[in-house]
Parts: sequence; C-alpha cells; structure tokens
Amino acid sequence: MNATDTLDIQITKVEHSRLSETSFENLVFGKIFTDHMFCADYEDGEWKNFQILPYGELPLSPAISALHYGQAFFEGLKAYNFPNGKVGIFRPDKNAERSNKSAERLSMPHLPEDIFVQAIAALVDIDRAWIPSKPNHALYIRPFMFATDPALGVQPSKTYKFMVLTSPVGPFFAKPLKVKIETDFSRACEGGFGYAKAAGNYAGSLLPAREAAKQGYDQLIWTDSKEHAYIEELGAANIMFIIEGKLVTPSTRDTILKGITRDSVIQLAKSWNIPVEERRISVSEVVEGIESGRVTEAFGVGTAATIIPIAEIGYNEKLYKLNESSPREFSNRMNKALNDIRSGLTEDQFGWNYII
Ligand code: PLP
Ligand code: COI
Repeated sequence: MNATDTLDIQITKVEHSRLSETSFENLVFGKIFTDHMFCADYEDGEWKNFQILPYGELPLSPAISALHYGQAFFEGLKAYNFPNGKVGIFRPDKNAERSNKSAERLSMPHLPEDIFVQAIAALVDIDRAWIPSKPNHALYIRPFMFATDPALGVQPSKTYKFMVLTSPVGPFFAKPLKVKIETDFSRACEGGFGYAKAAGNYAGSLLPAREAAKQGYDQLIWTDSKEHAYIEELGAANIMFIIEGKLVTPSTRDTILKGITRDSVIQLAKSWNIPVEERRISVSEVVEGIESGRVTEAFGVGTAATIIPIAEIGYNEKLYKLNESSPREFSNRMNKALNDIRSGLTEDQFGWNYII
C-alpha cells in the first residue's frame, strides 16, 4: 500500500506544540494526546467537513443519542517509526473494513475505507514527531464514530461524527498475565454484537473485570454465554494457545472480535509451517491440558496488548500455572517477528505497513 493524498482536509495547526513539554517516560496507556485530532461529520446522508484541528474539547448537546442509546464504536491501531525515517501504520485497511462491520451492526453509516485510511495517514503525518522510538512503544491511533442527533427517540441517529485521536504509548501490560476464566458474567451472546467494536461491549465488561481484579486477576477470559464451557477471548485481546506444538485459537463467531493481530499471527505462523487450528476450545481442554503438559503456552494478541503471555489461569477456585519450566518459545518468536515487521526492521513480506 502507498499513501495517496486525495482527501480534501481543512487543516488548522496548533500555534504551540505541547511536545517539548511532554514526558515520554513511563507512558500510561491513552493518557497523553498529540497536538491534533481528525474530525468529520455525517449529515444529509454524506460525510463532509473533513478537518484536522488542535486536540481539544467538543461542543455537544447533552441529548446526543450516543450518550443515551450507545450508538458508538471505536477502532485501535498503531503507527511506528522506521529506522529510515519513514512511518508505518499497521494494516489500517483492516481496521477500516472492521469499522464498517461495527457501523452496520449498530445502524450507523459506512465510512468509505479510503477516507478512513487517508484521515489517519494525514493525522499521523502532522503529528509524526510524537511517535515514540523506544522498543515496545508506538503511536496508538483511536478512530471512533458516534451518533450526534440531539433527540431522545429510540431510532438510528441521522447525524454522526467520525474522529481520530492519537496517543504515544508504551506496553499496555507490564508483565505476563494472571487471568480468570469467567463463568458467571457474559461479554457477548449469540445474535448480539460481540463481533463489533461497540463502546457498550466495553462498558459491560467493566464490572466483571473489577470483580476479578479484586481477586488479583489482570484480565478475564470470556467464555460462551450459553454454557460457559468454551473459551472466547480476553477483555482487550484475542486468545491463543500452543497445544502439542500447534497454534490453536477460538474460531471467530458473532460473539468474538475478529482481531487484526490474530489474523497477522495466524498468517505468520502458517508461513513458518506451524499447524494452525481455528476451532472451538473447551475450558476443560485448556485446564486439563495445562495440567498434563499438552498446553505449553497461552497468550493474548491485540493491538494495545501486542503479544502478551498468560502466566496463570484461575478456574473454579484453582490456579493453573503455565511455563513454569518451558520457555515461551512461540510467543517470544512471534512478538519479535511482528515487532520487526511493524517497525520496519525486516521485510514486510505481506505488505501490511502503510508507509508515510
Ligand atoms: N478482542 C477485544 C475485545 C479487543 O478489544 C481487541 C482489541 O482491539 C482485540 C480482541 C484484538 O483486536 P486487534 O488485534 O484488532 O487489536
Ligand atoms: C486495542 O487493542 O486497540 C483495544 O481496543 C484494546 C483496548 C484498549 C480497549
């Protein structure tokens, strides 16, 4: 992919950049925003007013339907500094595609994929000095869309905003995770919208995650809502296992977000001739497999999370420990391979990077 430059964006730059006053030490995920943001409006059946503006507050009616009925979704992707001075945005076309799946499910308008990508490329380009260069750091890009009709009728809004924020980030998780297999609460149900990156999916996960945190867990492993017998995903990442040398991950369905990192890991693993299985995985297969030594690795895969090893899994009052003796051979190798591609350190054999 190569950058094109056809979207007509009105650009208002900041008078004074905050960059020199900003510390990049110990970056907390999503707390610091770059100088600018992208904004577009959907009115009269079309997208218009493409603007890059100084990052700042929005004047909005308290009646907008996003606040009342949750017509809102977001995306997440990252940009990396390359050693040659270029910047690579990782697979923005896939986020554009997925955002339209979210839009469809939430009765929101499609945004043409080239507008999505060009908006991001233009914003990242303007704030490229904000991209951290330290290992495991990147510029996190947060596109999002929300309904703006100031009306309390329960119906799809006629107006929307699409915006993009960018934020320099370090690692999302500091250390391998202790996770709990959730068997009371559900994140998503069949026929619902778990596959969409709907804001409401995250709201619903906060209470269960807080309860688990009180018990010392970093994240939840969500299970199917009917039986709580099958593994679905983590709260902010997809989940994968190495079972007897094979890469095994839940097949995606309408309850699971179809991760772009997941897809990248699968493609890379296949290119290394590692057998890949996308299928249903039962909770008992995992916990018994850890005990018997069949399951040698478990890890989360996501944009913010990157490749994050799982060290312990809690289920039914029992703690199952992974990797006590075996090194995390696959996840370490995958983490490095993905990082090297995303940061322009190695050949981008799949053409994943959008270069600006
Ligand atoms: N599942 C959930 C619930 C997520 O929030 C994320 C993060 O975006 C993922 C999976 C991983 O998706 P991706 O790799 O596209 O970031
Ligand atoms: C991402 O990885 O982009 C996410 O959306 C995860 C989380 C920050 C909600």
